[in-house]
Amino acid sequence: MKAAVITGASSGLGKEYVLEINRKEHDIDEIWAIARRQDRLKELKERSRIPVRCFPLDLTDPQNLQVIKQELERLHPVVSILINAAGFGKIGDYTSVGIEESRRMIDLNCKAAVDLTYLCLPYMKRGSRIMQICSTAAFQPFQHLNIYAASKAFLYRFSRALRVELFPRGIKVTAVCPYWIRDTEFIPVASTTEGEKKSIRHFPLASKTSSVVRISYFTSRLGFPVSTPGIMCSVHWIAGKILPSDLLMAIWAILRRV
Ligand SMILES: NC(=O)c1ccc[n+]([C@@H]2O[C@H](COP(=O)([O-])OP(=O)(O)OC[C@H]3O[C@@H](n4cnc5c(N)ncnc54)[C@H](OP(=O)(O)O)[C@@H]3O)[C@@H](O)[C@H]2O)c1
Repeated sequence: MKAAVITGASSGLGKEYVLEINRKEHDIDEIWAIARRQDRLKELKERSRIPVRCFPLDLTDPQNLQVIKQELERLHPVVSILINAAGFGKIGDYTSVGIEESRRMIDLNCKAAVDLTYLCLPYMKRGSRIMQICSTAAFQPFQHLNIYAASKAFLYRFSRALRVELFPRGIKVTAVCPYWIRDTEFIPVASTTEGEKKSIRHFPLASKTSSVVRISYFTSRLGFPVSTPGIMCSVHWIAGKILPSDLLMAIWAILRRV
């Protein structure tokens, strides 16, 4: 049995990747969809041509990963595709975001992505693919988006180095680094930090879920190490390589107030 494992499947990018797999793949037998909201996963299951196995789990609780581990051991699938799309951010400085939300971001954006990758790797074969959904936030330090950006930098580095470690096994790993996306729940969730005073005023030239998913999924099929699905994230990627971090943070200090 060939499976695709997708986290964050209840909305935004994760949900759209499930639909993209329906459109593009003809040898996937099951999609394993993971997120907290069961009702959303059930709706997705009804829309999907490929059978969906729903896992309504909070991935910040390490105990819940045991459920996936046990299903992998029981069913012994070949994991052809793993997409770690579950993630969230919180806008605000260190006082408004606070330690609890900071920990939760690290638990989901970093720990859960690593845990799930390690759980799935023994079930992957030559030609299997991993997509780690990072962000352009990985390309520089971001004041007022600090822990989120740091968590995505972690995932980006993890993804790049894992790709090289997996060369001998023929497994491809792509770090997907989108710029702001306007039509997911990410920005509304990120903007609800208590005591936050509009650290980021606007999200200009934000991209669309459909184009981010289409471009990044194609790039991963080609086996690219990094996907920057759009002009803004491509420019940011290059800027992050050539400009010093202090200058990038100074530019961000202006942009976030515009
Ligand atoms: N939108 C942007 O501007 C943007 C830009 C760059 C990168 N990204 C990254 O893209 C990825 C997808 O985000 P999105 O834009 O599609 O946002 P989204 O619509 O908010 O999707 C986030 C997904 O993560 C799941 N999730 C959140 N907390 C979870 C938890 N504790 N356990 C399990 N699942 C959890 C959510 O489902 P439940 O609530 O049902 O659990 C949801 O399905 C994230 O990693 C994000 O950092 C987004």
